[in-house]
Amino acid sequence: MSVTKPLPHDAARLHVTGQARYVDDIPTPSGTLHLAFGLSTIARGRIAAMDLSSVRDTPGVVAALTATDLPFANDVSPSAHDEPLLSDGTVHYVGQPLFVVVADSHRAARIAARRAVISYEEDQPILTLEQALATDSRFEDGPRIYARGDAAAAIADAPHRVEGTLELGGQEHFYLESQAALALPQEGGDMLVHSSTQHPTEIQHKVAEALGVPMHAVRVEIRRMGGGFGGKESQGNALAVACAIAARLTGKPCKMRYDRDDDMTITGKRHAFRITYRAGFDDIGKLSGIEFVQLTPCGWAQDLSLPVADRAMLHADNAYFLPAVRIESHRLKTNSQSATAFRGFGGPQGMVGIERVMDHIAHSLGRDPAEVRQTNYYAPAAAHPAKTNGTTTPYGQQVDDFILHEMTETLLERADYAARRAKVAAWNAANPVLKKGLAFSPVKFGISFTLTHLNQAGALVHVYQDGSIHLNHGGTEMGQGLFQKVAQVAASRFGVDASVVKITATDTAKVPNTSATAASSGSDLNGMATQAACDTIRDRMAHFLADYHQAPPEDVHFADGHVTIGQTRLAFAEAAKLAYENRISLSATGFYKTPKLAWDRIKGEGRPFFYFAYGAALTEVVLDTLTGENRILRADILHDAGASLNPALDIGQIEGGYVQGAGWLTTEELVWDAKGRLRTHAPSTYKIPAFSDQPDQFNVTLWDGPNREETVYRSKAVGEPPFMLGISALMALSDAVAACGSGYPALDAPATPERLLAAVQRVRDGL
Ligand code: MTE
Ligand code: MOS
Repeated sequence: MSVTKPLPHDAARLHVTGQARYVDDIPTPSGTLHLAFGLSTIARGRIAAMDLSSVRDTPGVVAALTATDLPFANDVSPSAHDEPLLSDGTVHYVGQPLFVVVADSHRAARIAARRAVISYEEDQPILTLEQALATDSRFEDGPRIYARGDAAAAIADAPHRVEGTLELGGQEHFYLESQAALALPQEGGDMLVHSSTQHPTEIQHKVAEALGVPMHAVRVEIRRMGGGFGGKESQGNALAVACAIAARLTGKPCKMRYDRDDDMTITGKRHAFRITYRAGFDDIGKLSGIEFVQLTPCGWAQDLSLPVADRAMLHADNAYFLPAVRIESHRLKTNSQSATAFRGFGGPQGMVGIERVMDHIAHSLGRDPAEVRQTNYYAPAAAHPAKTNGTTTPYGQQVDDFILHEMTETLLERADYAARRAKVAAWNAANPVLKKGLAFSPVKFGISFTLTHLNQAGALVHVYQDGSIHLNHGGTEMGQGLFQKVAQVAASRFGVDASVVKITATDTAKVPNTSATAASSGSDLNGMATQAACDTIRDRMAHFLADYHQAPPEDVHFADGHVTIGQTRLAFAEAAKLAYENRISLSATGFYKTPKLAWDRIKGEGRPFFYFAYGAALTEVVLDTLTGENRILRADILHDAGASLNPALDIGQIEGGYVQGAGWLTTEELVWDAKGRLRTHAPSTYKIPAFSDQPDQFNVTLWDGPNREETVYRSKAVGEPPFMLGISALMALSDAVAACGSGYPALDAPATPERLLAAVQRVRDGL
């Protein structure tokens, strides 16, 4: 069967030979125009005067549009209608689009965009969490609070306590393909848009609003993205809408792509967080009460910040049972890029909070941090010694599939934890300058969109009379391998080789009303919808063939590229031809909605997740305490992808996720200056992990066990969860710093060399 095979990514050959077509590679008709935004240079205020005459006089410029030139909606917000495409006169951050240039070349548009003469009335910008709190600048009226029991009393009554504050930086998505869109005007005012987007339906929706037409007049297509990582859930709206409006006004195809600096300056990033905590626990480190306050600067517009901040709260427990708990979340409005979805969608930030608490507890008791973690795990799902802890999350969902006890024991044994812990201690005792650190961290990640209605998907499948199969579904491909996995599902339903299945571009005219490919649910949702579509066609074929050969339908089997009907054996292509000639419909749609979900986000109660995906990581690092430089020497990972649809692709996701997570917490630092200007807007100043930053030894294995819930072939979502395995890299650096003295490192992230040196100093001073 095709599912479970470690087949390569369907476009791997095209990627490495440069033949894979991205939006910018689509051959454009002659006369295509190019767009560039003119950007704000202040963080907050009003436009006093905007003189675009030099812009319009630039050779090659066809038009320069401002908010007043827009025919209908001036809105590219995915949520709260608070994000104009072009400034309405107020300015909210450095880099906000104020006007758009339409020119005959990309270069002319970019040159002209810099020639505007703009004067502003400047206001005091809100750039820090302190400023936002002081001015009560926030989304929603006040903080959101999820609580169970009396956390304050439990902490007060506990024999031991820790408290502290942790700063977590944001993260630039750094998809290799920057944002891009191409709009092609069609007859009768219709518009075809190619957009590098994880969310074609939303592009369709926003373009329709901007053009004042029904959604049926707009078709959005995307074959693939060169990475999205959440940064193309909403951030592509502006380009697509601008191109569509310019195409409508000029009657010409219009195209826009951000250059890297513009992309980093204009678009939103991962939410930074400040998390303060207080925890009470017993002599072995078992928690009795815990309080978190999560502060996050969301930037100037709401975008997806509320569900992101919700998910941070929903992962404040990670893998641990929290008997009495209070989580308070502040979503603050600041004058910077509007922070947006990024792999894990707030989950990673919430999780680092509790992982820091585990580390802090272990340090304060002088106990093994892996043991303290296991002590606090949820009760095991299977029969297992001492069911001492509970199984209910702070938000009331039962954790009835908890497999981290077994996974942790297996990983620690395979990776030789106990012996290596002793070796690291011996090394650190003998070496004054180079210190080693070792840390274990687990992941429990909730799978489903927390906005329940998004958990639906559709597919469209055709079998042609020669037996070849055309597959389409609502998911988008961004490198994660979704298309290949779903093609393997389709091939398996018909018992044919995966090469028989043609993977096609996502298209809002084929499958409507889709959700963003996000929340790691791409294969869960689209795999099931595709299975349903295939089964409809297969059942029609089976009934017809049974009838034709006078056999019971149960005797019809699809396998090995053939259909057997009792004693008769036909090639799949012959069966398709026969069905066609007998007027059997060989095309079907499929639909799927995730069962069992019920979630009240205001109360913070219910079952937001269909199931949990698990992972476990052990990281060893070495730190130069003179320079702060460091390396990951070894990472061992055991990850739960259920019954994997494609182990090769899943391992790729795990490796990439871990490295991206470790990058977030170590080298990737965003720096804004006192005027709110992002100073790290290019690879020269913003350091993502390179190939050479991979762990020298990188052992990744899949946990062997099917999903307990009925997902597609009992697989589990794998896109985001492994990102959070990178937390073990931060904890390993903390462990190395701790070896320098007696104090607790209290290491903030990203743990840059500067921060590491400061932490080494604190630890030496015994603070
Ligand atoms: N992997 C690659 N190569 N490129 C990406 O952009 N995005 C991640 C993850 N893995 C991403 C990736 C994010 S944020 C999500 S939500 C999932 O893939 C989305 O795809 P899936 O639902 O099919 O897993
Ligand atoms: Mo992923 S952050 O859900 O696109």
